Amino acid sequence: MKKITLTDKRKSNYYYNEAIKTLRTNIQLSGQSIKTILITSCFPNEGKSDVVLSLAQELGSIGKKVLLLDADIRKTAYAGRLGVEEEVKGLSQFLSGQVNINDIIYETNYENMDIIFGGPSAPNPSGLLSENIFQLFLKKVREYYSYILIDTPPIGTVIDAAVIGRHCDGAIFLIEPGNVRYKDAQKALSQLERSGCQILGAVMNKIDTKADKYYSSYYKHYGEYYRRAEENNK
Ligand SMILES: Nc1ncnc2c1ncn2[C@@H]1O[C@H](COP(=O)(O)OP(=O)(O)O)[C@@H](O)[C@H]1O
Ligand SMILES: [Mg+2]
Repeated sequence: MKKITLTDKRKSNYYYNEAIKTLRTNIQLSGQSIKTILITSCFPNEGKSDVVLSLAQELGSIGKKVLLLDADIRKTAYAGRLGVEEEVKGLSQFLSGQVNINDIIYETNYENMDIIFGGPSAPNPSGLLSENIFQLFLKKVREYYSYILIDTPPIGTVIDAAVIGRHCDGAIFLIEPGNVRYKDAQKALSQLERSGCQILGAVMNKIDTKADKYYSSYYKHYGEYYRRAEENNK
């Protein structure tokens, strides 16, 4: 397996880290049969890719063998965000038969965390993900990893997450409060449910708990995840 060095440029934040830990615990409590987990949300930029990365790092740090799978072939996030300059092969190339499974799994400098990049954007991502090869691939990797965390495009915009959901054990639905209308969230959730995937829970992202008592209580009860927006804007 090839090795790659990833550089996470995000600033560490105590509350953020604690919320990720809570999320990790809740996932562990979901049971051992929950291995392949997708993360989606209604819209782009709600923070899915960020949560997937933090969660993968966290699970790896406690000794779980984790595979981070970037299945957002439309807007692949990680190579650019994590300072990868060399050319890497990714999921779209594997699904279209150009490379083998061994060519796309990279061992990283994060403990117990391997990664599969999205690869170059393909003309028909949902078509590629519907292929039998994707299902077979998930079957194979689940023998080796404790968790496969799957980053997906927004389900309110494209169908990919629902296609992936057919073959996953569970889904986490992420919401950026204030940015998503109730109706949109409901529509997205029922789309996800129709895929037959078990919805494990919701994560509220980009919450300033100090500014809003209401969300603050949500944080306490459900261990939601937030990072203060201003830190990100620096
Ligand atoms: N909790 C957060 N607080 C502030 N900014 C965030 C938070 N999570 C993500 N972001 C920022 O929002 C943008 C979109 O995040 P990203 O993970 O790419 O979203 P998605 O995968 O849902 O499109 C990025 O610039 C990211 O750094
Ligand atoms: Mg993303």
